[in-house]
Amino acid sequence: MKMWSGRFREPLDSQFERWQRSFEFDRRLLSYELAASAAHARALKSAGVLSADELISILEGLQQIGGTATAAKGLAEDDEAEDVHHFVEKQLVARIGEVGYKLHSGRSRNEQIATDLRLYVRAAIDELHSELAELCAAFTDRAEQAGTAAMPAYTHLQRAEPVLVAHWLLAYVEMFLRDADRLADCRKRLNLCPLGSGAVAGATLPLDRALMADELDFDSATANSIDATSDRDFILEFVNTLSLQCLHLSRWAEEMIIFSTQEFGFVQLPESYSTGSSAMPQKKNPDLLELVRGKTGRVIGSATALMITLKGLPLAYNKDLQETQQPLFDATDTAIGMLPMVAGWMKTVEFAHWRMNDATQSGFMNAWAGATYLVNRGVPSRLAHEQIGKAVKLCVERNCELQDLTLDELRTLNPAFDEGFRDCLKPASVLGIHDVSGGTAPARVHKAIAAAKKKIGTLREVIHAHA
Ligand code: ARG
Repeated sequence: MKMWSGRFREPLDSQFERWQRSFEFDRRLLSYELAASAAHARALKSAGVLSADELISILEGLQQIGGTATAAKGLAEDDEAEDVHHFVEKQLVARIGEVGYKLHSGRSRNEQIATDLRLYVRAAIDELHSELAELCAAFTDRAEQAGTAAMPAYTHLQRAEPVLVAHWLLAYVEMFLRDADRLADCRKRLNLCPLGSGAVAGATLPLDRALMADELDFDSATANSIDATSDRDFILEFVNTLSLQCLHLSRWAEEMIIFSTQEFGFVQLPESYSTGSSAMPQKKNPDLLELVRGKTGRVIGSATALMITLKGLPLAYNKDLQETQQPLFDATDTAIGMLPMVAGWMKTVEFAHWRMNDATQSGFMNAWAGATYLVNRGVPSRLAHEQIGKAVKLCVERNCELQDLTLDELRTLNPAFDEGFRDCLKPASVLGIHDVSGGTAPARVHKAIAAAKKKIGTLREVIHAHA
């Protein structure tokens, strides 16, 4: 039996009937639909709509539906079910008889889908948090293993200053921790229960909304029934957060692709995460990295699709909202799916430390340290910059580095140069002068690793509390 056929004189066009269904994709909400339905049933009992026996039989029926679907690996099948709500009603009535129809008393699918989707996003955030913690741990472990190994840092993709490999890796950890934080923020805002909002104006029976919210581990009930049934902000926020998370991974992937070229040769692509060419026997391609970059496009596409779906909708529920589900599911699967891939890649990749270190030895990356040497001798910064710039010009003409210039040559630029200049140009002192919190001086990076570990620990505590 349909959920709404009473006032219709004609059956639906059969093609339209199939076309408008959402069961094919919303059946993945089944476990949330069952949990929300159980909470609603309990509230119906408290409101005196269901007897104790009726409640028991409904709860048992709901449990059986979950059990069967789990046994069938969640692949609930039904050729007639319009959506997951209709599916549950049909299944319930098939199991416990007409009393099953009492479950829908005083509620609407509009509040149900809003509730199911909040529960779905909340669970997805918890899963993402676990994966992000693993990812951050993988990057931090590699940072720790890298010790005091150095590499060039780039600005404008031109060699800029040497940094510790660990410092570079921790830059990514910061991005991922921010992503985790944004997800936590989104979780906090979505954790309100729409049950009891009805179709638009609120439930038609005196349901205890606080009780239902509590049962589903929501912080409280939503405040306005019109908003609660039409709000999908939590989906937009979530998928936009995923876009940003994927965007970080995509930037990482692009950098790794560049670093793995023969021209850079900073990283050796792990064979277990690369493929070859069917044509060119010598090829080893960075597929994992390219797919991360490519899939990011799809996630950002979903975020855009969602905003465009919502932007013209008057209050309150409109069937357009059904179209928010597929981009949500696809973005979630895609974003969650790439995290263990990236973590695995990171654990396996080999850094060519000698190549990275070699690259720090040329290209005048010690020029700023040279200027700092003059500044420490009282030379105004702009003049020091100019004088070291002239020294660089001289080196370019001679095809040498700053440390190859003689003291006499240097003194034509500024008499303040002395023997100590060469020391200040050495890699260890170049790194060492960046001795501020957040800087690349080894002692600072050492502390940063400890701080990152602590933040990962805090994230794991949050995960544990929500488990
Ligand atoms: N399948 C629908 C959706 O996802 C459920 C809500 C249907 N509500 C309605 N008034 N037709 O949006």
